[in-house]
Amino acid sequence: MRKPLIIGNWKSHKSRSAVKEWFDEIAAHLVGHGAAEIVLCPSFPLLDSCQQSLKAHGLPWKLGVQDISMFGEGKHTGEVNASQVKDLATFVLVGHSERRTELHESNDMLSEKVKRALEAGLQPIFFVQDKETPIPPNVSIVAYEPVFAIGTGSPDNPENVESVAYFLKHEKKIPTVLYGGSVDNTNVGVFLTCQSIDGVVPGTASLDPIIFSKLIQNA
Ligand code: PGA
Repeated sequence: MRKPLIIGNWKSHKSRSAVKEWFDEIAAHLVGHGAAEIVLCPSFPLLDSCQQSLKAHGLPWKLGVQDISMFGEGKHTGEVNASQVKDLATFVLVGHSERRTELHESNDMLSEKVKRALEAGLQPIFFVQDKETPIPPNVSIVAYEPVFAIGTGSPDNPENVESVAYFLKHEKKIPTVLYGGSVDNTNVGVFLTCQSIDGVVPGTASLDPIIFSKLIQNA
């Protein structure tokens, strides 16, 4: 059986001091490491503390960043480029609907970000909001996240999730397809039994270590 991928998207939450507490608590609640491959995506300033906590607790998880610059190294004030994070992170989230809406990231900008990630050896996880969202070349992990399901407690129904995931896998030839949008410890099993779904992207449910540990256990 395939190992499901669980991507915890912390978004713009938590401080450096909260990281240690979160890890101490989750390590106390996790029974074994579960069957899933876990990736945690904190904000940039927390990467280092997350790396230390993973090591301290012997957790075989990977880290991801929630964004990277569409530019390489250079005169780009405020930007964090892909090569600056590649020693800390394995994955990068690209195309999340919050960034498309709040930061006006266009399809062209997102294609550049995918290129920069791949050049630096980071694995992009590309977000689509529906079947029509354009997917840049050479993307091998796509997360389907319908806007209405994000942070609302009302996930998309599993039949629709499977239909979009099937389309991405078989028409768009994407090897790894994830679902995100109000995934929690109570519904994770339902999404992971969808034939074309390889993993999930919990946001809210990754913030509480007890809920996240239950989600991992139920995956
Ligand atoms: P949610 O967020 O689990 O809180 O709906 C998921 C996401 O936006 O990645």
